[in-house]
Amino acid sequence: MASHSHQPHDNAHDEPFVAELLDLEAEVLHAHLTELTGWLAELTADRPVRRVLDLGSGTGTGTFALLRRFEDAEAIAVDASPRLLHHLQGRARELGVADRVRTVEADLDAAWPDFGGVDLVWASGALHHMSDPDRALREAHAALAPGGLLAAIEMADVPYFLPDDLGIGRPGLEARCRAALADRHAEALPHRGADWGPLLSRAGFAIEAERPFTIELPRPLPEATGRYARAMLGRMRTALDGRLSAEDMSVLDALLDGDGPHSVLHRDDLVVRTERTVWAARSQA
Ligand SMILES: C[S@@+](CC[C@H](N)C(=O)[O-])C[C@H]1O[C@@H](n2cnc3c(N)ncnc32)[C@H](O)[C@@H]1O
Repeated sequence: MASHSHQPHDNAHDEPFVAELLDLEAEVLHAHLTELTGWLAELTADRPVRRVLDLGSGTGTGTFALLRRFEDAEAIAVDASPRLLHHLQGRARELGVADRVRTVEADLDAAWPDFGGVDLVWASGALHHMSDPDRALREAHAALAPGGLLAAIEMADVPYFLPDDLGIGRPGLEARCRAALADRHAEALPHRGADWGPLLSRAGFAIEAERPFTIELPRPLPEATGRYARAMLGRMRTALDGRLSAEDMSVLDALLDGDGPHSVLHRDDLVVRTERTVWAARSQA
């Protein structure tokens, strides 16, 4: 999942929007999630996966992908946001897996509840939210049964959606938007895009693989792509107020205008391009 700066504690009003964004992301990146859980199934082939722990689960995009893949497993979804967990429970009922999911509201920056020996820990876009990731990884190590696996998924940035030349305004709008936001992001989430390898080793894990994924979705793009792009660029637009030229801002507004001729909801030149790295690390007794 992409990186959305949303501490649940101070941005509660933002959560319905975040929930929508996370769900759209899971829909658009469905094939990638399937590939990723397939890889984890290979890495865990020697021991059954019965209990999975999704750290910073949000709306459960990882939880549900894991339950699809590991049909005998139950999941514990942990998040600090009760609203996102409530959303997750509703989704679990819709998907018919409510009896396989337990939600736990917890601040993973504080002392962790006892999760009691899990086989697989999944942390997607979550570790960089921790104020002390070293501590969180030690806790994750303690939560795993010996020989259990942790998958840490980290994304460099939110996906790219726009072609360089949009046919309106100056080319390169999306790159300028990102450049204008870079400082702000670095300040809000200093661990975003971190190399988790050294921290995993320090926490006692044996790293089995560090795998980069380059995602460039083939056409036809998933049906939800326009809505996902609109949600993500709309979020960017809010953060960009006062940081972009008036011309760029008006082009961005035209892209976000649901009914307008340039709207991302109707364009046929969108792309979905992003990169992420996944560390698979084994707990050692
Ligand atoms: C970028 S979202 C990722 C959600 C989900 N893992 C996904 O990939 O779709 C980060 C999640 O971490 C949660 N989170 C942030 N800080 C947290 C903390 N200290 N304790 C527990 N959860 C936290 C947020 O509420 C949010 O749901």
